[in-house]
Amino acid sequence: MKGKVIRMIQTVAITGASSGIGKALAYEFARRSIHLALLARRQEVLEEIAADIQRQYPQVKVHCIALDVADTDSILPALEQAQAQLGQLDCVVANAGITGVNKTGAGDFAKDQRIIQINLVGGMATIDGAARIFRQQGKGTAVGISSVSAFKGIPGSAAYSASKAGFSSYLDTTRIELKKHGISVVAVHPGFVKTDIAPNMEKYPFVISAEKAAKDIVDGIVKGKANIIVPALPWSVLGRVMPMVPDSIIEKAF
Ligand SMILES: NC(=O)c1ccc[n+]([C@@H]2O[C@H](COP(=O)([O-])OP(=O)(O)OC[C@H]3O[C@@H](n4cnc5c(N)ncnc54)[C@H](OP(=O)(O)O)[C@@H]3O)[C@@H](O)[C@H]2O)c1
Repeated sequence: MKGKVIRMIQTVAITGASSGIGKALAYEFARRSIHLALLARRQEVLEEIAADIQRQYPQVKVHCIALDVADTDSILPALEQAQAQLGQLDCVVANAGITGVNKTGAGDFAKDQRIIQINLVGGMATIDGAARIFRQQGKGTAVGISSVSAFKGIPGSAAYSASKAGFSSYLDTTRIELKKHGISVVAVHPGFVKTDIAPNMEKYPFVISAEKAAKDIVDGIVKGKANIIVPALPWSVLGRVMPMVPDSIIEKAF
């Protein structure tokens, strides 16, 4: 890694660690000898990942905690369990998320509501739980995985785009609010990453692997960045342009 380490992180809790970006983040943190609490609904998958990480990185402690972020009341207790098991909690990554294609007005609003519940409400509750623990510690780093769809909504994924735009706004605002408590908030905006979140991800433009995304994200976190866009090119440029793109072009592109 080029550049100075600004944030010293020894322990991290990751939601949605059973697959995709969350799983790749677990391996990337472990590679840097950072102890882990892995959270997701599929406990048996987490246990397999934990066993493999411990084989590869025996110096790393790994704990698995079952968590459904739709049940917001269970998030703070799960993070407190992570803190107790790891001895301290330096960083929490709110990564758990789902997507879904939906036709607005076609009679399936429940699908949109579920996306908002998991990605936005669940993400906010994870940052809030982390902040509760970090306020008592007087330090900590809360990371939220948003998306480039926060910059400009994707037709057919209106609820997903809204969930990520809302989450980015929440992260930007809490960053200012929590700074005086010694807490830093990091917003991550990935472009397209090849994971199981949606079929045929390899067909999307500028797609990268989950491992590449995880490396760039952890590099950004330890270097003290507040905003991380992965891959930085072309999305940091496109991210500025996207809000100004006329609807007619977006309509043709999707
Ligand atoms: N892939 C992309 O192109 C891309 C781009 C931008 C942003 N992102 C964001 O990156 C994050 C990770 O996505 P991914 O691509 O890695 O997807 P993924 O491979 O489908 O992984 C999603 C993870 O979220 C967990 N999850 C889903 N619902 C959950 C719930 N109710 N409670 C707890 N955990 C839950 C899943 O675990 P369980 O099923 O075991 O609970 C899984 O570990 C998401 O927030 C996504 O929006 C992805």
